[in-house]
Amino acid sequence: MTVKKAIPYSKDRLPKHVAIIMDGNGRWANKRMLPRQIGHKAGIEALKRTIEAVIDLGIPVLTVYAFSTENWKRPDTEINYLMTLLHEYLSSELLSLHEQNIKLRIIGDGVAFSARIQEELTMACEMTTNNTALLLNIALNYGGRMEITTAARNIAEKVLREELRLEDINEDIFAQQLFTEGVPDPDLLIRTAGDMRVSNFLLWQIAYSEIWITDVLWPDFNGDILAQAIEDYGKRDRKFGGALEQ
Ligand code: IPE
Ligand code: IPE
Ligand code: MG
Repeated sequence: MTVKKAIPYSKDRLPKHVAIIMDGNGRWANKRMLPRQIGHKAGIEALKRTIEAVIDLGIPVLTVYAFSTENWKRPDTEINYLMTLLHEYLSSELLSLHEQNIKLRIIGDGVAFSARIQEELTMACEMTTNNTALLLNIALNYGGRMEITTAARNIAEKVLREELRLEDINEDIFAQQLFTEGVPDPDLLIRTAGDMRVSNFLLWQIAYSEIWITDVLWPDFNGDILAQAIEDYGKRDRKFGGALEQ
C-alpha cells in the first residue's frame, strides 16, 4: 500500500495553473560527460514524474515549455533528436496520458513540424479532448512575441472585415486570440536550472504570475521539488497592484 504524503499547504492556496520552463537538460548531461541528447531523454522522465505529481496535488492546468521559436538556432543534430523524442513520447505515452484522463493541448505554431508529427499531435489532442483530470498544454515552437504578433494580426483582420469595432478591442478580446484562449493565466511560473529570465515564454499570460526559480536541473526535477515550489507559493501575498489590508 502506498501512503500519500501529507500536503504541507492548504488546498485553497494551491495554484490552479502551473507553468514550467523545463531548462537544464544540456547542463545535466554535460556534468556527466554525456551527450546533450541523454539529457533530453532524462528530461522526458522528469516530465512524466511531474505530470503525475501535478495530478496527485489536484492542480487542474499544467503548461510546459518544450521547444521555443528560438530553439531552431540549435545544431540540426540536436533539433532532429528532439523531434525524434517528441515522436517517441507521443507514440509511447498517448494511451497512458489518455488513461490518466489528461487533456492534451499544443500551444505554438505546429506548421513547422513534419507532417507525421503534426498528424500525431492532432490525433493526440482529438483523442484526449474530453478528458478532465488535467489540461496539459505543451508549448512547441512557441514564442510569446510570435503569439502576441499573431493575435494582433488576427484582430486587425477582423477590424478590416468589419467583424470587430476598433473601440471594442480590450484585454479580454485580445486574450481570446492567444493559444491559451479560455485557460486562466498561470498562478505560478517555475524555471529550473537557475537562469533568471523568461526566454519568451507566455509573455502576456505571466503578467501577475508568481515566479519560482530553482537551481535543480530539469532531469532531476520531481514531485518533492514541485511541492517546495507550491509551499512557497502558498506563503506569498498576491496583490495584483492593490494594497494589503492593515
Ligand atoms: C531545455 O534544456 C530543453 C530545451 C530547450 C529543448 P536545454 O537543452 O536548454 O539545457 P541547457 O540550458 O543547455 O542546460
Ligand atoms: C527555454 O530554454 C526554452 C525551453 C525550455 C523549451 P532555453 O534554454 O532555450 O532558454 P535560453 O536560451 O537559456 O534563454
Ligand atoms: Mg537551456
